[in-house]
Amino acid sequence: MKEEIDKKLGRMAIFVSSKGGVGKTVISVNVAAALASKGFSTCIIDGSFQFGDVNLALDIQPRYTISDLAQKGEELEEIKISDYLYNHDSGLKVLSAPLKPELADLITPDMIPVICDKLREDNEYLIVDLTTGISEISLNFIEMADLVFIVTDLELSALRNTKTMLKTFEKLNMESKLRVVVNRSDTETLTKASQVPDILETNDIIYVMNNFKVVTKSLNIGIPFVISKPKEKITSDIISISKEFNMDSSQSRRRRKRKSGLMGILAR
Ligand SMILES: Nc1ncnc2c1ncn2[C@@H]1O[C@H](COP(=O)(O)OP(=O)(O)OP(=O)(O)O)[C@@H](O)[C@H]1O
Ligand SMILES: [Mg+2]
Repeated sequence: MKEEIDKKLGRMAIFVSSKGGVGKTVISVNVAAALASKGFSTCIIDGSFQFGDVNLALDIQPRYTISDLAQKGEELEEIKISDYLYNHDSGLKVLSAPLKPELADLITPDMIPVICDKLREDNEYLIVDLTTGISEISLNFIEMADLVFIVTDLELSALRNTKTMLKTFEKLNMESKLRVVVNRSDTETLTKASQVPDILETNDIIYVMNNFKVVTKSLNIGIPFVISKPKEKITSDIISISKEFNMDSSQSRRRRKRKSGLMGILAR
């Protein structure tokens, strides 16, 4: 019976990072738009409750936001959630972040499973653009998710904190759903993309290229580049993230990198 209920719920992925400004919004909005434009019913939650910018990335002015839902209190279980979503031209549905930072406090951790389950009942995919770091609210999202994408760039400090984040989530037994996204992976930095698997001790990595022109234009016009620029390499990078939904967790574990030699044997 439980399996029957689970089957009906859409698949859920969240995008999180240890450092701000690494590309969570750009990547999550484009992954969501890619799924929606393929005809899958898809919803994105702007989980940056204080300073969310999914509205900006999609050039939308929503009538309702998640704070309107939060104000429903006990009635939250009963409401029709589709009334609170913005329907973007791409087919993507959006649950926007509050329009004022102080309204973020209305959203409490216990509301997250209720909201996510309602959205997963109505949609094949639920994507969450989370805020930077780990909080009680973000842990509620992370626990529910089928896939957790940790976004980083090649800056050494970001990589170091990404490794700490990976280890933290592994301790919470989330290893099979963790993926790393290295954004702007071809930029000139001291650390090279090819060193990342060794630094992070994992092969579960997807690389997204740097493309200032395409990304900036897309943000300026409010149209995801996966829609306006389908032939660009950066669009194929995004599509490879959405394909992770088809990968089962056993495949992922096999791809996990282990230290070789004595260190590896001792670590087993
Ligand atoms: N692949 C890319 N190529 C070029 N520029 C990019 C790329 N990804 C992101 N950017 C640039 O980096 C900026 C920050 O990206 P974004 O807003 O998605 O980061 P974020 O992790 O969501 O930030 P925040 O922590 O503030 O939510 C964007 O405004 C965009 O200009
Ligand atoms: Mg963001």
